[in-house]
Amino acid sequence: MRPILEGRTLAVINDLSLDEIVWLHGKTRELKEARERKDAPALARFRIDDLFYGLYEVFLEDSTRTKESFKNAAAFHGIKHQLLDVGSSSINKNESYADTFRTLIGYDNQVFVVRSKLEGVCRWLQQVGEEYAAFHGLGFVPVFLNAGDGKHEHPTQELLDEFTLLEDQSWDRSHLHVALVGDLLNGRTVHSKADGLRIFKEVKVDLVAPSDLAMPTAYVERMRENGFEVRLFESIQEYLACDDKAARWYFTRDQLERMPDEMKSKVARLREMTKFKEEYASRLAYGTRFYHPLPMNKEWPEIPVSLGRTPLNGWERQSHNGYLKRIVLLAAVAGKIGHDFDGESFTSPTFDYSFVKEVAAGGTPKDYSKEEDSEGIKEIRDGIVLDKICVDEPKRAITAYVNRVVRIMGFDDMTHFSGPTNSKKTGKTKGYISIPNHAPLSPESSEVHKLAALALGCTVNVIKDGRVVTKIRLSQPPRIYDFDELACPNEACISHPDNHEGIKAEFLRRGEGFDCKYCDTHHSYQQLWRR
Ligand code: NCD
Repeated sequence: MRPILEGRTLAVINDLSLDEIVWLHGKTRELKEARERKDAPALARFRIDDLFYGLYEVFLEDSTRTKESFKNAAAFHGIKHQLLDVGSSSINKNESYADTFRTLIGYDNQVFVVRSKLEGVCRWLQQVGEEYAAFHGLGFVPVFLNAGDGKHEHPTQELLDEFTLLEDQSWDRSHLHVALVGDLLNGRTVHSKADGLRIFKEVKVDLVAPSDLAMPTAYVERMRENGFEVRLFESIQEYLACDDKAARWYFTRDQLERMPDEMKSKVARLREMTKFKEEYASRLAYGTRFYHPLPMNKEWPEIPVSLGRTPLNGWERQSHNGYLKRIVLLAAVAGKIGHDFDGESFTSPTFDYSFVKEVAAGGTPKDYSKEEDSEGIKEIRDGIVLDKICVDEPKRAITAYVNRVVRIMGFDDMTHFSGPTNSKKTGKTKGYISIPNHAPLSPESSEVHKLAALALGCTVNVIKDGRVVTKIRLSQPPRIYDFDELACPNEACISHPDNHEGIKAEFLRRGEGFDCKYCDTHHSYQQLWRR
């Protein structure tokens, strides 16, 4: 069997199955114990020890722990380690990420640790790397480890945080009660927790942040979907007054570099609501422990320096565990370990393609104009009629929507009639497009698949000799992609047009809306289109 994580990119924590995460924690524990015993043969089982194996670190934002722990992990492994000098690289000559990384892959590098302001970078580079490797017949697939992308995720930090939490409750995964405190709006380490903490069976999360820095709703919803109990508190002071406080507190610093100026001016006041004070310590339950991904700001540390030498200090061991966790992660993606994994592995989502359905065209053939229950639809003898577009929406919205379908499908070049109308049967507003003499369409045709993405929920009627001969009902497709008019609305997304990486936007259906394939932000269908 192939080692379980060999060649696997980690863009978000959900790129690993729960069993894979738990397996990684077990291996980290094994390594930590071997290190404490100074058991050289056991440690050697983790070492990659290959001079032709290369790790490249590309940090477009500052870092001490993440960058240096990977560097030290590379030294443990006896592999080549390089750090791109970003400040003097051609990224400053407006070179694309894709070109920069293609170059570095070509210098015998298999693993990349990437930190960037832009979100979704590793998902994009995974694609770039796969194509490059296939084109040049490299015989390996480059791995991209997300070391923090904007406000999005920090999956390797999530792994070391979980490991430390588990260590502190003797590897018991049955429950976790944790408070997340600080700038929950901009801190990516806490965002990875929305999915990462699923490794615990019962999870209670207390979110302690003023509303200006509150956890984005999408993550709160994600936590609730994952079955977590979530409670919200405005400040530490309010939280201290509650009688079932968590014994695990996870702090994050103010992410000043991600705040707009107007927020920065408020931050001194907001900070008072999430900064722990020494005098609060007596109000904590026995056994309480604090964690922090670090760094802390030396002028206004979230945790007073004096508490560093008390049993509250979980953050220094957390940082040390980061080094061990990254040794293990590198061993796993290099395929040095992973043959013994016997759990459930990650599987990519499968798509449900039943969004195009042919339905009965209606017993005995009828005259289309009579069968139709609408006003205003131009009667045609041959061609197609797209009906029931945007049912029950305001007329202006329907007009804009219908015009977009006409433009993108190229119906502009044909004689066509379109607009909003009212259903005679139900009285509801809806849009229609009728195109005389358009060639018949079948459920298999690519034009119909395109229409499913463009005209959500519409019905395609194929008319011949005044009768509906084929009726196709379209529902939401699982993916929307391959249209130049699509764009992720998140300006920090690597695929956003203003970032000029030349990436075609792609969205995956989730619930009522769609998630960007790259940055994961959730948008309504209407928000996906540029025009
Ligand atoms: C975090 C980061 O950069 O996201 N630090 C880290 O990786 N240890 C948190 C932070 O900078 O606040």
